[in-house]
Amino acid sequence: MNAATVVELRGLSRAFGAAERRRVVLNEIDLRVDEGEFLVFLGRSGSGKSTLLNMLSGIDRPDSGTVRVAGRDLGALGERELTRFRRDHIGIVFQFFNLIPILTVLENVVLPAELAGEGGPAPRARARDLLAQTGLEPLADQFPDLLSAGEQQRVAIARALIREPALILADEPTGNLDSDSAERVMALLLTLTRDAGKTLVMATHDAGTLNLADRVGRIEDGALTVTAGARQRGPEVVAAGTGAGEGS
Ligand SMILES: Nc1ncnc2c1ncn2[C@@H]1O[C@H](COP(=O)(O)OP(=O)(O)OP(=O)(O)O)[C@@H](O)[C@H]1O
Ligand SMILES: [Mg+2]
Repeated sequence: MNAATVVELRGLSRAFGAAERRRVVLNEIDLRVDEGEFLVFLGRSGSGKSTLLNMLSGIDRPDSGTVRVAGRDLGALGERELTRFRRDHIGIVFQFFNLIPILTVLENVVLPAELAGEGGPAPRARARDLLAQTGLEPLADQFPDLLSAGEQQRVAIARALIREPALILADEPTGNLDSDSAERVMALLLTLTRDAGKTLVMATHDAGTLNLADRVGRIEDGALTVTAGARQRGPEVVAAGTGAGEGS
């Protein structure tokens, strides 16, 4: 084992509802994700992709089982510690960007660093650098609602990376974009995460992303089945279109 383990799930279960309405969304899920990996969660609407991502970020807690991120057991952290841990180690990108409308683009990107108590010029310099990489530096002083959806999502990606977290979680980051913007956003997300050796875990309906992933996790009836993604199998196998992947 070379790479460090960034995510480890053991026996993770989550159900919603009571009595006869009770529905087990995630049933005894085990998963390990290594540093630098790109893992995609696929599954029909309602299969539990967002629920699983919310466990990884600690936004929601499992009924049973453990979630470890960067070696820390999230279940052992209180709400405050969890918030701090998330700020330092996890970057999150949502489908609907969630930018703050009364802050400029630059201020939105810097915000997580400020909330984490970082002072001085360093966070702004990092934010400008990230905005340059997203191609949005000229828009740094604009307010988000003047930007296109794709541009707003690129700002959200810069914001997710400002604290240099080990783990990036993205829930349908291209779900609200036209196909051109979606492609640009995916390319950016991948470049920025891979160049920095980050781990990326993403939920999507976009089959195009499968060609880019190291592994693909399919959620069905509460179970997660992980297979090798196209990136690991190599282009010739993808061209042949076989669905076979290694179990994991
Ligand atoms: N807080 C909650 N309370 C009750 N039920 C919930 C809650 N969160 C999720 N669920 C249920 O859990 C199931 C899985 O939802 P989830 O949002 O994880 O699906 P998803 O795979 O992300 O779907 P989509 O592709 O539409 O985003 C759904 O049946 C949903 O109604
Ligand atoms: Mg979802």
